[in-house]
Parts: sequence; C-alpha cells; structure tokens
Amino acid sequence: MSGPNKDYDPVEVSPLHADEVAAMRDEAVAAIEAATSLDDLKSVRLAHAGDRSPLALANREIGALPPQARKDAGQRVGQARGAVNQTLVRRTAQLEAEHEERMLVEEAVDVTLPYDRRPEGARHPLTTLQERIGDVFVAMGWEVAEGPEVEAAWLNFDALNLGPDHPARSMQDTMFLEPQEAGVVLRTHTSPVQARSMLSRDLPIYVICPGRTYRTDELDATHTPVFHQVEGLAVDKGLTMAHLKGTLDHFAAAMFGDGITTRFRPSYFPFTEPSAEVDLRCFACRGLQPDVESCHTCRGEGWIEWGGCGVVNPRVLVASGIDPATYSGFAFGMGVERTLMFRHIVADMRDMVEGDARFALQFGMEL
Ligand code: DAH
Repeated sequence: MSGPNKDYDPVEVSPLHADEVAAMRDEAVAAIEAATSLDDLKSVRLAHAGDRSPLALANREIGALPPQARKDAGQRVGQARGAVNQTLVRRTAQLEAEHEERMLVEEAVDVTLPYDRRPEGARHPLTTLQERIGDVFVAMGWEVAEGPEVEAAWLNFDALNLGPDHPARSMQDTMFLEPQEAGVVLRTHTSPVQARSMLSRDLPIYVICPGRTYRTDELDATHTPVFHQVEGLAVDKGLTMAHLKGTLDHFAAAMFGDGITTRFRPSYFPFTEPSAEVDLRCFACRGLQPDVESCHTCRGEGWIEWGGCGVVNPRVLVASGIDPATYSGFAFGMGVERTLMFRHIVADMRDMVEGDARFALQFGMEL
C-alpha cells in the first residue's frame, strides 16, 4: 500500500539535518568568499549553487519527507540557498568592481606621452636643390629631361666629340661595366642627356637635366665618386654665347641671390666651341682679400669655379642629326654639390653622403 510513511524520522535524511544544511551553506559561503577572480567564482558557483551542488541535491530530497517535515526542511534549505545566492551576488559585484579597477590601471593610456618617438627625417638637400633648379628653368619655359645612370659609352663620349683617345675615357676616371668591350659605363657627367635630347626631341630644344653621375674619385672633403650635375641644353635658331651668359646669370641669381657676380674663363670641352668655365665671385672673401692666407675658400683667387659651358660644337649637332647651318645651341653643366656648398656654406662634401639625418634636417622640411 502506498502513502506517507508516518514513522519516517527526518533526522534519518542526513542532508536535510539543520547542521548539515548549515555546513553546506557555510562551505559554499566560504568558497565564494575565497574566490579571488571572476573565473574562480564561475567554478565555485557551479560547485555550490549549480544543479548538482549539495544544496540543490538536498532540495530534491525534500519531496521524499513526510509532509510535516517538509516545511521545516524546505525553509532551512531555501534560506541556505538564499544566503548562498546573496553571497554570490555580493562577491560577483565585488570581483567585477576589482576587475574593472585593475583594468583601468593596467590599460590606462597616458595621453600626455609622446605618441611617436621615431625621429623625423628630412629630404636630402641635394634632392630639393635639384628640384629647385628644375623650377627655375621650368619657369623660363624649359623642360626637365632625364637619362639613365648606366649609359652607353657612345652617348657618354663619342656623341659628345670625346673620341676614342680622349683622356677622360681612361680607366682612371670612368667606371666601366663588365665586360668592358660592351661599351657601357656609369655616366661620368649629365652631358649624354644632351645627345639623348637631340636624338629624341623636336626642335627647338630647351632642357634642364639634374642627375647622378659617377667617377673613380676617392671620397674626401671636395670629391665624391657619386655626385650630381645639372646639365642645360638649348638648341634653336640664332642662339649665341650672349644667350648663354644671360641664362647663367639668371641661374646664378636664382641660386645665390641678386648681385652675385659671374665670369666666363676661356676653357676647352670637346662638345662646345667656344667653351668657358663659369666662376662665381668667392662667397667667403667676395674677392676683397684675394690672397691665399686670408681666404681658404678661393685660395686667394677671388673666384670659385661653378661649372663648364659653351656654344654647342657643330660636330655634336651633326652626330645627333641636327643641321648646324640652321641651328645653333648652348650648353652648360654645373656641380650640384658645389652649388649646395656655395649656397649654404657646406665645408665638407662628406656630410652630404654620410646619410646622417641631422645634416639634412638643418635644411628644413622642404617638400
Ligand atoms: N660635362 C662637363 C663635365 O662634367 C661639364 C660641361 C661643360 C657640361 C661644358 C656642358 C658644357 O654642357 O657645355 O665636366
């Protein structure tokens, strides 16, 4: 026969005994209090408040008690579970607050810290100067021309009337690419761009060509094996030495300021006839104390050499298929390093090649 077992003694159901329930509650509360992180708390919650926790299992036992015992046991277990849940809620809030506080400290961003400690660079003054030179000529209607640094020996020499026996072709000056018979060199000047321009452009021609050039020089205060030149070439009807002088005076004034004095000194270049070297009034002594002792810049000359120039040799025009009876031209070639040295009083060329950003930074962030 089924029915409640009147003789059932609740004391026998040990998990529901007051002491037992209190012990389960105390154990749960202690474990919750002992949890030091939210992760810890997760496993404590499972063990002491989950479906299979001692108190949950005890709760299931209640139904098996005789009715008169159920109320007490239910109250006991319910209170214990309530206490555990309250503790859980409180501890969770505590741990969450601690976690948040720790995150705030650990992940704090000091907005006053410099955001970027990488040193800033600057464009190299040789680059910006070449662009500036280009601008001076573009403003006069000239075009900027370019040529390769690895150049055909024919264009570097022959087309410019530097014949096979010319001393400039020697191994001492020129870097040849292997095999030497292939006739390929690192261009020793920007003048081959003259020949390239005459071969590829329509007349009249007004081109300015800044670029890198190579010679077998040792690096010292006034020489570098890799340097820069700026070549100019004009071919038109009726051009004379006077146009050349006027153009270079304008160029010099744009580089060194109005009032700079230039002079032409007769010289020889195979690709120009007549040829001249262009000198600038010494920027250090202004030619006022022309003796070796007092001026180390011009060594007492009162003048410093800037570059070469001349009226284009008719043989050069012919080599590029231009009729010298109708057209004439002038050309010039200046050292860009020299120009930078005079313009900014840079005493040692090595500063330009060593790549120390502090050198370039002095010239500002010109774009
Ligand atoms: N190419 C010569 C050199 O490297 C410089 C030069 C002289 C260029 C006279 C010219 C010129 O265009 O007409 O020394």
